[in-house]
Amino acid sequence: MSLKNKRVVIIGGSSGIGLATAKMAAAEGAKVIIAGRTESKLKAAMAEIGNDVDTYTVDLTEEASIKALFEQVGSFDHLVITGPAPQFGHFLELNIEQVHQEFEGKFWGQYRAAWYGAKSISQSGSIVFMSGAYRARPVPGASSLAAVQAGIEGLARGLAIDLSPVRVNVISPGLTDTPIIQSAFADDARLKLYEEQANMLPAKRIGTPEDIAQSILYLLSNRYVTGSTLFPDGGYTMR
Ligand SMILES: NC(=O)c1ccc[n+]([C@@H]2O[C@H](COP(=O)([O-])OP(=O)(O)OC[C@H]3O[C@@H](n4cnc5c(N)ncnc54)[C@H](OP(=O)(O)O)[C@@H]3O)[C@@H](O)[C@H]2O)c1
Repeated sequence: MSLKNKRVVIIGGSSGIGLATAKMAAAEGAKVIIAGRTESKLKAAMAEIGNDVDTYTVDLTEEASIKALFEQVGSFDHLVITGPAPQFGHFLELNIEQVHQEFEGKFWGQYRAAWYGAKSISQSGSIVFMSGAYRARPVPGASSLAAVQAGIEGLARGLAIDLSPVRVNVISPGLTDTPIIQSAFADDARLKLYEEQANMLPAKRIGTPEDIAQSILYLLSNRYVTGSTLFPDGGYTMR
């Protein structure tokens, strides 16, 4: 299915994977609507994507703001949610309130976006949720993130039934060079991490936002794919 003239809402579309997805969808003729918390990031992204894009501020941790977003957007075809940063820490060192906060943004944020968005999504449309490679193969300190990701993948399979014929899928990237990673590490440490990961991966390189965006566009446009999780991760989860 072509994305030409389709209305594609991307929460997290002002940066990284979401921004690459917005650019690629716009290049295919989609009408792109990007949302995130920061007005200045949205405006900068708009300048990169081109003129035919709408921007809205939204915070996935706040139900009222998600409700307001979908009231303003009206009917649309596809919903992509990228969004909040993960919380890392050893199981016994993260307190339960910190883990609650992580679920609030990364699980409940996506859940609420689907709940409010489902009321105005096209029956030929789709939802793509964000998961990640640690669900299948966690590293130390990723137990809460792995739990969120498992929850999201289960939710997507359930919604593929409940919201049918709307298709519901999940994208599960491996390490990808985006601002979330760039800001988490000093340059030297980041380049060392990239090199170590690339050596370990069958693909022998880490991901770019465009690698992941290309996979998201596949999930949006292939009308026979639903209830699936796609793993653009260089082979991380199968090792
Ligand atoms: N990069 C990787 O290696 C990787 C791997 C697997 C999974 N992921 C997941 O992919 C998602 C996107 O990551 P990215 O690498 O593209 O990061 P990014 O470049 O930091 O982009 C994050 C986007 O989400 C928005 N956002 C953050 N918190 C939000 C909130 N509470 N409500 C609404 N929007 C919010 C940000 O804008 P504002 O800050 O203005 O809100 C931004 O547009 C994250 O969930 C991340 O965990 C990333």
